Amino acid sequence: MRKKSKSIGLILAGLAVPVMMTSWGLAQPGKFTSPSEGYIPHLGEIMSAIQARHVKLWYAGKAANWDLAAFELRQLKANLVDAARLYTGIPVSNVTTMAEPMQSVEAAIGAKDARRFSQAYAGLTEACNGCHVSMQRPFIVIHAPTEPQPLGDQSLSPQHRP
Ligand code: HEC
Repeated sequence: MRKKSKSIGLILAGLAVPVMMTSWGLAQPGKFTSPSEGYIPHLGEIMSAIQARHVKLWYAGKAANWDLAAFELRQLKANLVDAARLYTGIPVSNVTTMAEPMQSVEAAIGAKDARRFSQAYAGLTEACNGCHVSMQRPFIVIHAPTEPQPLGDQSLSPQHRP
């Protein structure tokens, strides 16, 4: 088990670095000690968070809100790294197959290229479903969001504040 989590760590190094940077920026040790420290979210909860980010990522990309898209992708990666770390029963290959599609989405966001973004997003979504199928969850079928837009309490378009 120890060996396995090490290899996940290594293979996901590209994913884990921005995640670690994010937590370094936000979690200031000793400053905010959460009462829920030690709480282990159920895999389904992590996946529900991933789902929300997958949706926001899509609308942010569609709205050319590249900063938000980059943020949502980072959050999604962090959730996935959590899933791999907390649920060591998940086959390593199921997690690592996400790395390439995520890098493609990242590259499309960096290039602010809407067409590449749509293609890369489709690849990412396919990888979600690939894992669901291989983990006896073929009934959890993910696709790009369709209207009407959910999460109606957050503006997913760029805000032009004066
Ligand atoms: C490494 C494997 C894996 C990957 C990759 C993965 N999932 Fe999942 N997902 C699961 C498993 C396993 C479950 C079932 C969890 C359970 O039984 O509680 C699940 C459940 C879900 C659920 C149902 C949650 C609920 O409780 O209703 C959603 C939605 C979901 N995943 C979305 C996604 C999306 C979106 C992606 C891609 C961005 C993704 N998943 C990638 C393994 C994966």
